[in-house]
Amino acid sequence: MAKIALAIHGGCGVMPEDSMTQEEWEGARRDLAAALSAGYARLKAGDSAVDAVEAAVVVMEDSPHFNAGHGAALNENGLHELDASIMDGATLEAGAISASRAIRNPVKAARALMEDGRAVYMTGPAADRFAEVKGLQVEPQSYFTTPKRVGALEAMRRHAAAGTDGTENEKHGTVGAVALDAAGHLAAATSTGGYTNKPEGRVGDSPIIGAGTYARDGVCAVSGTGQGEFFIRHVLGHEVASRIAYLKQDIATAADGLINHDLAPHRIGAGLVAIDAQGVAVAPYNTPGMFRGWVTPEGHAFVATHDQIYEIEL
Ligand code: GLY
Repeated sequence: MAKIALAIHGGCGVMPEDSMTQEEWEGARRDLAAALSAGYARLKAGDSAVDAVEAAVVVMEDSPHFNAGHGAALNENGLHELDASIMDGATLEAGAISASRAIRNPVKAARALMEDGRAVYMTGPAADRFAEVKGLQVEPQSYFTTPKRVGALEAMRRHAAAGTDGTENEKHGTVGAVALDAAGHLAAATSTGGYTNKPEGRVGDSPIIGAGTYARDGVCAVSGTGQGEFFIRHVLGHEVASRIAYLKQDIATAADGLINHDLAPHRIGAGLVAIDAQGVAVAPYNTPGMFRGWVTPEGHAFVATHDQIYEIEL
C-alpha cells in the first residue's frame, strides 16, 4: 500500500496541569484520538488528503476542548468570530473564510469555497450567507460559547484592566491537520476562534494561505498555532515549504528553525504540525505543551499534550 500519514494539532500554550480537570485532559486526548481516527479512516479508504484534513478538523471544531467551532474564543465584545482555511497541495487550490459568526464547521465552508472556485477568501456576513446557500449548518452565537471561554474572557479583561499579561492558555488556541494520501498528495487545514479578547474584525493567520496554512505536493503541508500576527509577518507556512524546496532542508530542520529560532525574538507562543512528501510528520512548539497527534506511514498512532506521548489504537 502507498504511504499515508496524518498529523493534527489542537493548539499550543502554557497548559498548566491544574488549568483543566482530569476529565477535561482525558476528554481532550479522547477528542484528539477521534480526530485522528476520522482523518485516518478517510486516508485508509483511499480518499484524498483534503478529505482527511477536513474530517479531522471537523471533529476538533465540534469538541469543546479546542479553540475552534464549539468552544471558540470570545472577542472583546463577547462575540465569536471564526476563521478557517484548507489547501490542496496537488492543485494549490485553497478556500478560506474569516470573521464568521454562524458557521458550525468553518472548515467545511472553506472547503466549499475552494470547490466553488469563484473566490479563495470570503469574510464576514458574506461568508455566513455563502455557507447557508451551500447547505452548511449555521448556529446562533450561543452554540459556540462554553463556560471555559467565558472565564477566559473575564480573565483577559482583568489582565487588560490591570495591565498584566494573560497566560498563553487564556489567550490562544487553534486546530489544524496535515495529511499525505495514497496518491502522494498533500493537504492542510486550520480553524480557530482567534485569541481571547481580540478586537472585533481582527483576522489571524489561520485563514491566510501561506501563513497559517500551506500545502504543496512534493514539498510539505503545514498548519500553525500561536499568535497569528507573527505567522502572517513571517509567512510561516510558505517559509517552511521554501526552506525545504530551495534550501533542501529536511522538514524537522525547516519547521524547528521557524518556531524555535526565527520566532524566538518575538517571545510568543507558537507551534505547528507539518508533513513532508514521504509522510514524515513533525510538531515543534515553543510553549510547555501543545495538543497534538499523528499517525506514521507504518500506521502507528500517537496523541500528546506535553512531553508524555501516548500510543493509541485507531
Ligand atoms: N493562530 C490563530 C490566530 O492567531 O488567530
